[in-house]
Amino acid sequence: MKFVYVLTILLLGFSSSPVAAATPVLTLKAGGVAIEFTADELLARPDAETIAVARDPSYGKPMSYRGIPLRALLSALPSDLTDTIQARAADGFVAEIPRALISGAAVPWIVVEDASHPWPPLEGKAISAGPFYLVWQHPERAGISPEQWVFALAALTAVPSPLQRWPAISVDASVPEDAPARRGQLAFIANCLPCHRLGGAGEATVGPDLLRPMPATAYFTEAGLRALIRNPAAVRHWPAQQMPAFDDNALSEFDIDAVIAYLHHLAARSK
Ligand code: HEC
Repeated sequence: MKFVYVLTILLLGFSSSPVAAATPVLTLKAGGVAIEFTADELLARPDAETIAVARDPSYGKPMSYRGIPLRALLSALPSDLTDTIQARAADGFVAEIPRALISGAAVPWIVVEDASHPWPPLEGKAISAGPFYLVWQHPERAGISPEQWVFALAALTAVPSPLQRWPAISVDASVPEDAPARRGQLAFIANCLPCHRLGGAGEATVGPDLLRPMPATAYFTEAGLRALIRNPAAVRHWPAQQMPAFDDNALSEFDIDAVIAYLHHLAARSK
């Protein structure tokens, strides 16, 4: 009896002790102002709603969540002239999302995991998508890529576009408007830059830099690169492999050609 009693006290003491350092927060930054929210704070907002997500690319199935419209959260920040919202995850994944997409036909939400009803783990991972997760309703209306859904979200920051911040990854001005390399630049920024840097440009730390020290186009054949983007495990595999496969909903053959043309363009220029 006594033992049980002591244990209970210990457990109670443990759960009620301040664990502030371990409470995850979502940080929003714009115009020199930063606001932090805990999951409880977001879930208590009057604009929190339950939403259905028809096809969740992170879970591969329909999901239902409680969340806040991203537009409402951003409207609390001072307006500035930046055109991109950077969504940074806890694992080094950094998506650069044009504001035009955020205010467009697809509707972004910050959904929040309630600690008393945890979400399931992501496939092949020990973690869930929470506690903060950027999801989209009607993603097909604006061609939102699976890499623009950001799980384990830690911070949203208003920033200038990637091409303004890193002019070195911009295709030459002489490249025609309709050239594959130009389309590839857009596809790369949306689908690959969240995990890969290019010659140091970018902020992701998930995958290797694809331009330095040696460009990936110098040690992969064109067919090998195409196969790897479609399904990395079809080229090589090991237990800790992380790169997702891009099916043709995510990237058409045309887009993959364009990404490869873009990588060749940057590699030729960096010689
Ligand atoms: C979610 C993160 C993620 C995304 C998105 C991603 N990659 Fe990767 N990629 C990785 C990781 C991590 C590796 C290292 C191997 C592994 O763990 O799969 C990798 C490996 C590679 C490699 C092999 C590099 C080498 O030297 O072995 C290439 C090429 C590559 N990725 C290209 C791309 C392209 C092109 C895109 C966009 C269409 C892309 N990746 C999107 C995470 C990602």
